Amino acid sequence: MAYRSLSLLTWVITLITILLNLYIYTYPSLDCDHCKWKYTYKDVDSLSSIESKLINIPYIGDLYETYFIKETHRGGHGTPSDIRLLAIGDPQINGNWPSTPYIKRLDNFGNDYYLGHIYRLMKPRLDPTIVVGMGDLFSSQWIGDSEFYNRTKRYMTRLFPRPLQQTYAELEFIADHKDIDWKTHYDWFRNNLEDGFFQKPDYYHYSDIKDWTSANLTNEPLFINITGNHDIGYGDTTYQHMARWRKLFGKDNYWIEYDNDTKHPWRIVVLNGLAVDGPLLQPEFQKYTWQFIEVLKNREYHGSTILLTHIPMYKREGLCVDGPRVDYYNKDNCHEGGEYRIGLLKSENHLQYETSQAILNAVFKDSKSGIILTGHDHEGCENYYNFHERNNNEDEPSGEWIASKDVETGKYIKEVTVRSIMGDYDGSLGLMTGHFNNDSESWEFDYTLCPFIVQHVWWAAQIGILSTILLQSINWLI
Ligand SMILES: *[C@@H]1O[C@H](CO)[C@@H](O)[C@H](O)[C@H]1NC(C)=O
Ligand SMILES: *[C@@H]1O[C@H](CO)[C@@H](O)[C@H](O)[C@H]1NC(C)=O
Ligand SMILES: *[C@@H]1O[C@H](CO)[C@@H](O)[C@H](O)[C@H]1NC(C)=O
Ligand SMILES: *[C@@H]1O[C@H](CO)[C@@H](O)[C@H](O)[C@H]1NC(C)=O
Ligand SMILES: *[C@@H]1O[C@H](CO)[C@@H](O)[C@H](O)[C@H]1NC(C)=O
Repeated sequence: MAYRSLSLLTWVITLITILLNLYIYTYPSLDCDHCKWKYTYKDVDSLSSIESKLINIPYIGDLYETYFIKETHRGGHGTPSDIRLLAIGDPQINGNWPSTPYIKRLDNFGNDYYLGHIYRLMKPRLDPTIVVGMGDLFSSQWIGDSEFYNRTKRYMTRLFPRPLQQTYAELEFIADHKDIDWKTHYDWFRNNLEDGFFQKPDYYHYSDIKDWTSANLTNEPLFINITGNHDIGYGDTTYQHMARWRKLFGKDNYWIEYDNDTKHPWRIVVLNGLAVDGPLLQPEFQKYTWQFIEVLKNREYHGSTILLTHIPMYKREGLCVDGPRVDYYNKDNCHEGGEYRIGLLKSENHLQYETSQAILNAVFKDSKSGIILTGHDHEGCENYYNFHERNNNEDEPSGEWIASKDVETGKYIKEVTVRSIMGDYDGSLGLMTGHFNNDSESWEFDYTLCPFIVQHVWWAAQIGILSTILLQSINWLI
């Protein structure tokens, strides 16, 4: 009797484990509308009639199409390839302290592989051209260099693994485990600011980058990192923060122009949104970031723009979960020893109104299409910034960008606040497709959110595998 119930239990658990694992390895095929690029170019015309019937079956058909039918090209004939950008919202990974209990350590460890599972599954399925970490890669800006390096290593190897040819320089630096040399960085920054170097485009300009390294792995996605408040701080940002960020994650402000000398130019603009409002401990960071915005404003550009920044633009209450809110450090919300922060910017939900207008004007001054991707609020949100012209008789055209759920004017830019990839937000990934419309001769941008599931289901699938092996072994032995 006991044997029969053990056997029954074993098979029930085995079956549940199989179903759970099937789910976690194939979930995008259950939600095809949200987990694919807007356009795919599979060669479905030359399929046999059995295959054609097969691919029309929900789920099974999508799996077959995904894994057995190759994509022949990535854009319409005679038009440029689609831009396929995978956006990762606020992973905010935690670390362990000597006082961290074992159960929390296990949770942190599992969380790395839960997030890593999403990326390892989706990268080959989607084959993105660009992957963007939307900021708040880590959960706190108040960590030492050693912990910053350790989290960076986890980020590069467990969460979003990449070929060693692209990462060895950073990994070697991390392995040395020396404190960051922020004093040299301080001198470099101050000298360049004084010399006016940041007022010129040279420092910010890139073109047609496919790989940051000389490995030239053009089939791998290009990784772009956005500064978040938990990576470098808000008003409390120091040279130490910036030195280690720049060393391991690159510049905080720059652009990459693609296909400039064609009929379909487009660019990516990366902006450090933490250093545009203030007051800052190091006001020179703000000065430098505004010089970047000024350079952008003065740059002649006639293509479409994808703006990537962590903090969303200003919008009225009610459009997203987060309304406008700004906090400054005061004597009640400062830790002891942190009194030097009093008066500085502590946090904000949106960039300030004037700041947002200035950025939108600088980046989207042309009437070309564009899109803004941000992170920060975790819930996710989509809006349109409509440009309302003002009728005045001056030569300078002037107007105001106003956020709304709808397109209301001829000139508008969509803003997407990417939902967080954290388990509590269902392990979501943002998929942005840029497609060149040959008739209107302009880039069209589309965004969809692909949710996975809370982390507990992923855990259950792992525990299920262990239990199944254990129970099946016992059953086999007795
Ligand atoms: C796109 O437009 C160009 C010229 O504007 C033309 O040569 C090309 O054939 C068009 N491609 C498609 C797919 O319509
Ligand atoms: C980071 O990792 C190294 C090597 O594993 C270790 O020696 C060091 O203590 C870690 N740093 C922290 C702050 O835990
Ligand atoms: C990188 O590889 C591409 C082909 O994949 C090639 O066209 C290009 O010239 C290479 N660039 C460099 C700098 O080697
Ligand atoms: C972005 O971060 C990764 C580490 O995850 C690094 O390898 C890569 O070089 C960074 N990008 C830039 C432009 O520095
Ligand atoms: C980009 O293209 C435009 C127009 O074709 C040209 O005026 C400009 O100099 C180019 N910019 C760069 C950096 O090549």
